[in-house]
Amino acid sequence: MRLPPLLLLVYCCVAHGSLLFAGRDSGPHAVTDSVEIPGGSPLQLCDTASGPLGLTIESLELDPTPAKRAANLTITARGVLHVAVTQGSYVDVEVRLGLIRILTQRFDLCDVSRDNNIEGLQCPVSKGPHTLVHTVQVPAEVPAGRYSVFARAYSAAGTQLTCLTGDIVFQQRGPAVIDH
Ligand SMILES: *[C@@H]1O[C@H](CO)[C@@H](O)[C@H](O)[C@H]1NC(C)=O
Repeated sequence: MRLPPLLLLVYCCVAHGSLLFAGRDSGPHAVTDSVEIPGGSPLQLCDTASGPLGLTIESLELDPTPAKRAANLTITARGVLHVAVTQGSYVDVEVRLGLIRILTQRFDLCDVSRDNNIEGLQCPVSKGPHTLVHTVQVPAEVPAGRYSVFARAYSAAGTQLTCLTGDIVFQQRGPAVIDH
């Protein structure tokens, strides 16, 4: 199974039926601090109070926003890596649908990048500025709801690269449009 970038894991876990039902959880995730990321996406940067992170995200855009089912979603991100991303770097992802945790999983960053042919970001990824432009197809079967995404990424040496959190909402389907 090919894995989309971290914030799109929500689609794959629902669409491919690998739903990890982890039970109800007691409350919101312990995010120490969060700040907006320029670009108007529904994601924020978290853990900003705990010191400098290994990746500075300068902008993050999702087109369209809000995301739509059965449509392409293009992610455009610009950032600066302060450490190299090498084999062994990973991201811990948690996704909730409402209060229910539907995914808690660690993904290998180099594998995700390779399996999705993410241009210009193949491991090892050097320090310095990088731009990501990647399009994925959002399946039509994603259930409506508010998906809360929480992701912390680390380098192979254990330096925290980033922390992302936010809610992606899929509205109930509108009236069917029949196109002739
Ligand atoms: C998504 O993009 C692919 C590749 O460009 C294209 O073939 C496909 O028709 C697009 N799908 C939609 C729903 O626009």
